[in-house]
Amino acid sequence: MQIKLDFNNMMAEFLGEKEGFTRQDIEAILPQINQAHQNMTEKRDTGMEWRNLPFNQQQVVEQILNTAADIRNRCDTFVVLGIGGSALGPLAVQTALNHWHYNELPPEKRGGPRFYVVDNVDPERVAALFDVIDLSRTVFNVISKSGSTSETMAQFMIIHKMLQDRLGDRYVHHIIATTDREKGNLIKIARHEGFTTFIIPGGVGGRYSELSPVGLLPAAVCGIDIKELLAGAAYMDKICRQGDVFSNPAYMFAVLQYLAMGRGKNISVMMPYADSLKYFADWYAQLWAESLGKRFDLNQREVFVGQTPVKALGTTDQHSQVQLYTEGPFDKVVTFLKVERYRQELAIPKIFADIPSIGFLGGHTMGELINAEQLATEYALLKAHRLNHTIILPEVNPFTVGQLIQLLEVATAFTGELLNINAFDQPGVEEGKNATYALLGRPGYEEKRQELADRPAK
Ligand code: PA5
Repeated sequence: MQIKLDFNNMMAEFLGEKEGFTRQDIEAILPQINQAHQNMTEKRDTGMEWRNLPFNQQQVVEQILNTAADIRNRCDTFVVLGIGGSALGPLAVQTALNHWHYNELPPEKRGGPRFYVVDNVDPERVAALFDVIDLSRTVFNVISKSGSTSETMAQFMIIHKMLQDRLGDRYVHHIIATTDREKGNLIKIARHEGFTTFIIPGGVGGRYSELSPVGLLPAAVCGIDIKELLAGAAYMDKICRQGDVFSNPAYMFAVLQYLAMGRGKNISVMMPYADSLKYFADWYAQLWAESLGKRFDLNQREVFVGQTPVKALGTTDQHSQVQLYTEGPFDKVVTFLKVERYRQELAIPKIFADIPSIGFLGGHTMGELINAEQLATEYALLKAHRLNHTIILPEVNPFTVGQLIQLLEVATAFTGELLNINAFDQPGVEEGKNATYALLGRPGYEEKRQELADRPAK
């Protein structure tokens, strides 16, 4: 079951010569494409180790499955404490692959504990969690690659104290740490206090970490087949190793987005036509924005690159944003996620035959309707000469979701190589993290605190 990229509507043949691209446009940048491919191959083991996650974790997977079985036995709730790359992947995979109302199902139908991702420090939201969980039946997975992010550490500290107060020495069985092998405070605390710990390997940055223990443990706890997830990613990775852009969907996605950026298309809309993939748009938004939104110097000139990601949902946003996409500025590329076969189907009954303007729906299925809506939106964009392409999933399952993750990660990294930027750092995010440390008095950040104090008064 292979997922596919349909890029016809990015091409002049379909979209018209003014907006669409030609084969010659792609061939004109072949030297850059070949160089970027060489970089991807060379960096596979030095800087892009995330690409090897589908292949090199057999032992870790067994440990994760054992830990997950233990948690499922003794707990009814599993909570992820993390933010950014340490939260969006677990949320996207869980919503894609489990029942839409997973938490509300009775335990025997759920197949795992209730699942929450606390990825903010809004006190109202964090406090609200304690109204619906029983601490003695909950395991908290604190996830932080750096082991020092303020939001995650603050959540962890609150829960650590609550657990100790409530459970005494037994608290230790209710916290699992997922973090770097050496860097940061979390690993030190975890070793000292004896938490079960999983390691995020080197060369696996936050937003590229879903297929590491960051995403695999929460998925396994909730009953998702993580071996299939990894098998899907491995399958796609093999396809994405090919240097020929016309055979490599990740490279083609990247090349067309890159060419589009060159023509001022500064917005990338991700629009799944499946509620199950809604949070994949959030995950993609982080991956694309944080990896590619960069400033660099070229010939003593400042250059700013990147595309602003926009999350949309079909069909919901057809009735809000699509007007802008078809008639607003020519500054977007729309990526549809299309599902060929939904896991559940609903027939629309043949009633109201005497009212033809709604009666025509009877006898069709919901799946037919949503697919027709996707095609119709694609057509509306095409007719308005708006760049769009479609990633087609035969079905949403662990194997196709694994492919989707690997496809989009490789595409993002390849776009970074084409742009000649570092797709794996995030100085803009670090600046904000450091300013927070300074504002709240972290030792070592006195200079930053002074810098903030010296800013113009409002
Ligand atoms: O992609 C990234 O590196 C970031 O978005 C991080 O995932 C995010 O800032 C959280 O960092 P950490 O996992 O170190 O707590």
